Amino acid sequence: MQHLHLAASRPSVTERHPVKKSNLFYQSRQRRPEVDRAEGIYIYGKNGTRYIDGSSGAMVSNIGHSNQNVLKAMKAQMDSATFAYRLHFENSAAEDLASTIADRMPDGLNKIFFVSGGSEAVESCVKFARQWAVAAGQSSRWKIISRFPSYHGSTLGALALTGYGPLKDAFMPLFKDMPKIPAPTCYQDQDNLSDHERGLKYAEMLRDEIMSQGPDTVLAFAMEPVGGASTGALVAPDSYYKRVREICDEFGVLLIMDEVMSGVGRTGTFMASEHWDIRPDLVAVSKGFAAGYAPLGAMIADEKMVETVLDAGGFAHGHTYAGNPLACSAGLAVLNEIDRLDLMGNTRAMGDVLMSGLRDLMSRYEFIGDVRGKGLLTAFEMVSDRDTMKPLPKDLNAYDRFVEICYERNLITYSRRTRGGIDGDHFLICPPMIVTETQVSDILNILDDSLAVFARENGLEA
Ligand SMILES: Cc1ncc(COP(=O)(O)O)c(C=O)c1O
Repeated sequence: MQHLHLAASRPSVTERHPVKKSNLFYQSRQRRPEVDRAEGIYIYGKNGTRYIDGSSGAMVSNIGHSNQNVLKAMKAQMDSATFAYRLHFENSAAEDLASTIADRMPDGLNKIFFVSGGSEAVESCVKFARQWAVAAGQSSRWKIISRFPSYHGSTLGALALTGYGPLKDAFMPLFKDMPKIPAPTCYQDQDNLSDHERGLKYAEMLRDEIMSQGPDTVLAFAMEPVGGASTGALVAPDSYYKRVREICDEFGVLLIMDEVMSGVGRTGTFMASEHWDIRPDLVAVSKGFAAGYAPLGAMIADEKMVETVLDAGGFAHGHTYAGNPLACSAGLAVLNEIDRLDLMGNTRAMGDVLMSGLRDLMSRYEFIGDVRGKGLLTAFEMVSDRDTMKPLPKDLNAYDRFVEICYERNLITYSRRTRGGIDGDHFLICPPMIVTETQVSDILNILDDSLAVFARENGLEA
């Protein structure tokens, strides 16, 4: 495969989307067109262009934009009360949402602690696990093993679990980093093992790490059941999940499932861990939970653990907006819409159509090395050699350039560097769960066109 360097004369993103001077800033100087309105799977820019939201933002807008029933429920809540502080009032939106979630979770996982986002949800799991250990007379336990690569959030506690260099390295002196084991990236392995054996091999790495850390110091293992931004929808072999649960049980280590991206229907089941019949001890959810209608997240906790912590004096943690009635009314209406429209069924069906379309693209573009995912949490990864799974040269910046090519064709995708943020390029294709077969086909056609452009620009074999 040959590689040419990027044409230096391409206009910068800022030149292509000129904006007036702004007092806003985010991660970089990149600017985008101003949003006008959004409906279904589409977002309209003030530039008159209609974009397909092919990644549901950052895997958030799961039920699509401007759902009228959700807006109506929020409006009704706004007309009664938008805020009632939890130390002063109960509110029925939070109460009803908590019981609706509890009804869908495995037995005993029925206590809900509301927060406003994914990092807060993970941070809550970390702190709750530790407080439980102290309350349960196991205060020697404090280490939370997680995986590399992984993403668990941007606050310092969540960052200690995260395995993604560019978002973490500068902050390392500010927190105590947690032990990591390799994420089960079986598709990169050059061995003669079966999938089943590979799953067990990666699970045993958890056992080895617990042994080497000292079992009585290990508090929990945190993982994304289906990977998100850092691994690009990584799914382990089936054998992995059950063995991980067994290993945690063997050592009394808690299993924290970070379902911030994979939860609330995105993979075709309410929680992704249901695919493997795994019962975690703590679960973090956010993103598709209120699906972009309000900032909302939650820790879902085992009832007995909660009782232990409350009996010992209470959970020493919380955020001002916890259980906010407006956010909870949105969350409840989103869950109702998922049921009413059978969006999990649609996710399974459209996930199959999307996956088979991505596999077809892989059969035609040699530089697609892997296609993976579950339901509508899907991704493909570019490589320079399928046999060795060697990434594309880092300086092609494929993860950035390909997203731009799609954006220019009015398709929004989401990308990251696959191998811990250093190199590797994957692209998450995660349209809202309301997507139709025709719309999946529109997405695939734009991807096809964009892949052809990317191949031409870089002298890659199609
Ligand atoms: C698996 C996972 N956990 C945690 C987070 C952090 O969520 P937030 O960005 O809402 O803080 C994310 C965000 O991408 C995520 O994908």
